[in-house]
Amino acid sequence: METSKKNEMISIGELVDREKRHLNYLRISITDRCNLRCLYCAPDGRIPKLNHREILSLEEIMRIVNVGIHLGIRKIRITGGEPLVRRGAIDLLGRLARIPQLKDVSLTSNGVLLEANAQRIFDAGIRRINVSLDSLIREKFAHITGYDYFDRVWAGIMKAYEIGFAPIKINAVAMRGINDDEILDLAKLTFKYPFHIRFIEYMPIGNSRSDSTNQILTPEIQERVATLGELIPLDNGQIDGPARRYRITGAKGEVGFISALSHHFCATCNRLRLTADGRLRPCLLSDQYIPMKETIRGDGSDEQLAQCFRNAVKQKAAKHQLSLNGAAAVKDQMQGIGG
Ligand code: 5AD
Ligand code: SF4
Repeated sequence: METSKKNEMISIGELVDREKRHLNYLRISITDRCNLRCLYCAPDGRIPKLNHREILSLEEIMRIVNVGIHLGIRKIRITGGEPLVRRGAIDLLGRLARIPQLKDVSLTSNGVLLEANAQRIFDAGIRRINVSLDSLIREKFAHITGYDYFDRVWAGIMKAYEIGFAPIKINAVAMRGINDDEILDLAKLTFKYPFHIRFIEYMPIGNSRSDSTNQILTPEIQERVATLGELIPLDNGQIDGPARRYRITGAKGEVGFISALSHHFCATCNRLRLTADGRLRPCLLSDQYIPMKETIRGDGSDEQLAQCFRNAVKQKAAKHQLSLNGAAAVKDQMQGIGG
């Protein structure tokens, strides 16, 4: 079967929803597997893994990407689980990086396999990388992630820095009583390195071992960071994410705050998500989805795949429904969606 059936009906830049949001950013989870089990992501006990058959092949992903690009997707991020545990992940990154219509191809990783792979990822054409790091203390890192891998992750970040990735963004989920005592130390990294440190509010997604009693919201985090110096606001770029960005006076890097709960950023959301098992999700924080796998495996045309994108755009809610005191409002596990 030929992989791409050209279809003239697909036009450019049509992914605009009723809120007039241009959905030009596709985040793709390429695996639900992970070599960590973070408190806020992984549930207790064994994590049910998707069967290999259920996961999109890299060819299937590329085909969906190509349809998305015809419709106006201009930015892609590869996520997981941990994307680097999937064989072929770097080849996929390289193929995406070579697509001229894509203005931006980036990777979110937990950093465990970064030191070994950073050069290949760079050579594949990737320049922007997000690494999750919630603690700078080895024991605490092990407590949060379930593995004593702080040194490996830090070595990965340093390697990426030496090689020349820029910007390197560090995502820290802030949790009261767990790592909130490290907010200042994490923010201080921006004086030494040109990193972007982003503090993320814990979101009740799926079945995790963390809950809202650990919640600490952006206003409080920001107030603490501001004790390090004046926070100079920076503009959000046009296809930049939901972080409110600042530079602490005198710092080389930036700090950012991602506040799904205390400040809805839905009005400027430009994202769609493709899950590892081939569902298109209009919103991270709502369980609705459009299945694509059946279409792609059932010999569907590119036009039918394009229709899946259009349906996702139609279904994208104006606003998510998470509330501040909420129990998990999202039932799907984060690992298959990719954050
Ligand atoms: N709340 C907030 N952020 C989360 N992440 C994963 N689970 C959650 C959650 N429940 C974020 C982590 C990681 C990224 C992939 O997703 O910061 O960096
Ligand atoms: Fe793995 Fe990322 Fe989930 Fe941590 S947050 S368990 S690194 S998928």
